[in-house]
Amino acid sequence: MRPSVFIDRPIPAEVEAYIAEHCNIVKWESAEPITSEGLYPMLTHVDGLLTAGLRIDAELLEAAPNLKIVSSISVGYNHFDLIAMKQRGVLGTNTPHVLSDTVADLALALMLGAARRVAELDRYVKDGRWKQGDGRSLFGTDVHHAKLGIIGMGRIGEAVARRAKFGFEMDVVYHNRSRKPEAEAKLGVRYAELNELLSVSDFVVLLAPLTPETTKLLGRNEFQLMKSTAIFINISRGQTIDEAALIEALQEGTIAAAGLDVFEKEPIDAKHPFLSMPNVLTLPHIGSATEQTRFEMAMLAAYNLVDGVKGQMPSNVVEELR
Ligand code: DGY
Repeated sequence: MRPSVFIDRPIPAEVEAYIAEHCNIVKWESAEPITSEGLYPMLTHVDGLLTAGLRIDAELLEAAPNLKIVSSISVGYNHFDLIAMKQRGVLGTNTPHVLSDTVADLALALMLGAARRVAELDRYVKDGRWKQGDGRSLFGTDVHHAKLGIIGMGRIGEAVARRAKFGFEMDVVYHNRSRKPEAEAKLGVRYAELNELLSVSDFVVLLAPLTPETTKLLGRNEFQLMKSTAIFINISRGQTIDEAALIEALQEGTIAAAGLDVFEKEPIDAKHPFLSMPNVLTLPHIGSATEQTRFEMAMLAAYNLVDGVKGQMPSNVVEELR
């Protein structure tokens, strides 16, 4: 019998056609956000689920008794309840590798954008406030030759380090669960304990995946260790920092600026303090969002999904569910 899969969001036609060659497809067609009441009855007979952020918990698994695999079009998989999935023997896959360079590009864009105040000064020009020369009030800070601290030295961390080291001649230190001697040799980066990294870096880029260990990894004490001129970039998940502590650090001048792609609550509230802070550059969680990379991610997720529903071992089963 042909397996059945549920797809919770629009995907490229070519990717959907590949899935349709192998499976019957059930889709969330509504433009409204997914609700449990609407979703659960659609899961009764499905063998696979394709998503990018739907919370996969015990309740959902209960509603999907035939489910074999959840394939996520993302590298992060903090939306998987790993314990519940393990208990039910449901595989979970992600899409590593194909997005590393794209996310690293965005880390650099946030560093450059925050340091040179790109969005703020774009508004200054468009608002017709550019009346004189480039007075000191428009000055930013240099990225080239500055010291960069990378927290989370996975594939994306290495891609950021490569750009920083060889493109901007930055001095790069990193912190990671385990040391990466190969990356140290290849990229000329140095390992540092977290507190040391925070206190010596001009730019701190947070890339660590969200896990119980990294939840609120950076809070008030950590921001206080940073230089008052430091620029903080978060491209991991909003919950890896204490957002209230970051707001306070930026308001009180404990650190100079931030470039953020991720937030505690997404989409961010219209009245969020970040939105009225000129020293905060905000993006709507677009780390991997380019046409090419999102296509590759969707295709890879489709391969994982089809392998999983056919009883073959997909290439990208997440570490905890192997
Ligand atoms: C992911 O895929 O998990 C990242 O958030 C990229 O945007």
